[in-house]
Formats: sequence, C-alpha cells, structure tokens
Amino acid sequence: MNRPYIICHMVTSIDGKVTGKFLYSHECHDATETYYQMNRDFRADAYACGRVTMEGSFTGGWYPDLSVYAPLYDISDFLVEERSGFYAVAFDPHGRLGWRGTTIIDEDPGYDKAQIIEVLTRQVDPRYLRYLQVSGIPYIFAGEEELDIEEALQKLKKYFGINKLLLEGGSILDGAFQRAGVIDELSLVVAPIMAEMGKPLCNNAHMETYRLVEAKPCGTALWLNYRK
Ligand SMILES: NC(=O)c1ccc[n+]([C@@H]2O[C@H](COP(=O)([O-])OP(=O)(O)OC[C@H]3O[C@@H](n4cnc5c(N)ncnc54)[C@H](OP(=O)(O)O)[C@@H]3O)[C@@H](O)[C@H]2O)c1
Repeated sequence: MNRPYIICHMVTSIDGKVTGKFLYSHECHDATETYYQMNRDFRADAYACGRVTMEGSFTGGWYPDLSVYAPLYDISDFLVEERSGFYAVAFDPHGRLGWRGTTIIDEDPGYDKAQIIEVLTRQVDPRYLRYLQVSGIPYIFAGEEELDIEEALQKLKKYFGINKLLLEGGSILDGAFQRAGVIDELSLVVAPIMAEMGKPLCNNAHMETYRLVEAKPCGTALWLNYRK
C-alpha cells in the first residue's frame, strides 16, 4: 500500500454523534478512558486531526503575528532532518493553526511529544509558510483549493514513513477521509448516552459497508471494531 493503514478511532454517542456536550458528561467517563487507553495501545506512527480539533485540543486558538514574517512564494514541501517517528498530523488547509513548538505537549503519553506536520493547500498565506520554516515545523502540500486526502497520505508515507495512522476527528475530517475511501478500520467507543445535538461520525458521508470484527463492553461503554 502506498499510503498508511487508517484506523478511524472515535468516541460516539448511542445515536452516532461525535461532538457536543455528551462528551463532557459523567456518562461518557468510561468511554473517554477507554478511548485514551486504546489510543496508546494502538501504537500508531501518527494521529491526524482537523484544524478545529487541533485548535480545541492543542493550540487553544493561539496564532502567530504573521506581519513579522516575509512571504514565501515557493510552494514546495518543507521537510526537516530530525524525524521523531511519532507524528501529529494537522489537516489545516488554510494554515490557521498557531504552534509554539515543533511537538505536541500533552499530559497523555498517547499524544505527548508527537512531532507536528502541517498538511496545507495552495490557499495558505505565504507568510505562514515562512513562520513554519522559522519554527522548524515540516509541511506538505496536498491540493490546490481543497485538500487532496490521497495525495496527503501518500506523502506522509513516503516522506515520514507513516504506516499506521489514527484518524481522530472531527466530523469534517473523518468525512473527507471516508469519501476518499481510505478508512480501513473503525474503532468506535460508544458512550451510553444520546447526544442532544452534534455532528455525525463522518460529515457528508458516502454509503459504504464495513464488517463487524469485534464488540466488547468496556465498563459502561461498548467498543466496536469494523474493517472494510
Ligand atoms: N468524539 C470524538 O472522539 C472526537 C474526536 C475529535 C474531535 N471531536 C470533536 O469534533 C469537533 C470538531 O470537529 P469538526 O468536524 O467541527 O472539525 P474538524 O474535522 O476537527 O476540523 C475541520 C476543519 O479542518 C479543516 N479541514 C481539514 N481537512 C479538510 C477537508 N478535507 N475538507 C474541509 N476542511 C478540512 C478545515 O479547516 P478551515 O476551516 O481552516 O478550512 C475544517 O474547517 C470538536 O468539537 C471536538 O470536540 C470529537
């Protein structure tokens, strides 16, 4: 395979939602704990998230002052020599994420110390490219206006040796992967609660069949594992 094996690993409500207040409820506790434990146990080479999820989980919405960076009009991929072998892949088509370092800092070892990779489109502000280069953050281009998921995945494998990638939301990014037909496995931790509102697992999904491989109770949660 010329791209990583993709496992979409998510917490869902009984009614298949992945966003909303239910995630922070007492009833979701076992599901969340199971989710983080499994995230560590997968021992993937990388995890990928959309811009909104990265902002909520890791950058807190901080953004650099781009006025201090000269525009960089060279639109080739930027790779760095130091490769950690464990990566946080940010699908950030317009370059809206502000990183204060080259790695994720998180108390959970399943996320901590992952080297950041930015996946961009040509819509990015050229000053953002300079900011990334000065910061030592590698980036790849995949697509002109919209992200080309297949191209991004091929580059992630070729440049960084990523063979197993956890796709960890949110709904928009999961939907883009699903429509690209690249989700090989689903790992869903179902919390025993209906979501009041919220987005589905895959935004704008295509119809696609998966085969149930395992179903296992984990405290009050249920883990469902599907393969293509
Ligand atoms: N239940 C779980 O396990 C779980 C896991 C992770 C996240 N979440 C929840 O998910 C929520 C965020 O999900 P979300 O669906 O709103 O956002 P998301 O998928 O995290 O990020 C969406 C953004 O990513 C960028 N993007 C990346 N690839 C794209 C593509 N192919 N097409 C279009 N845009 C692309 C766009 O950024 P621009 O707008 O900059 O163009 C888009 O707005 C959060 O509330 C979080 O709590 C839940």
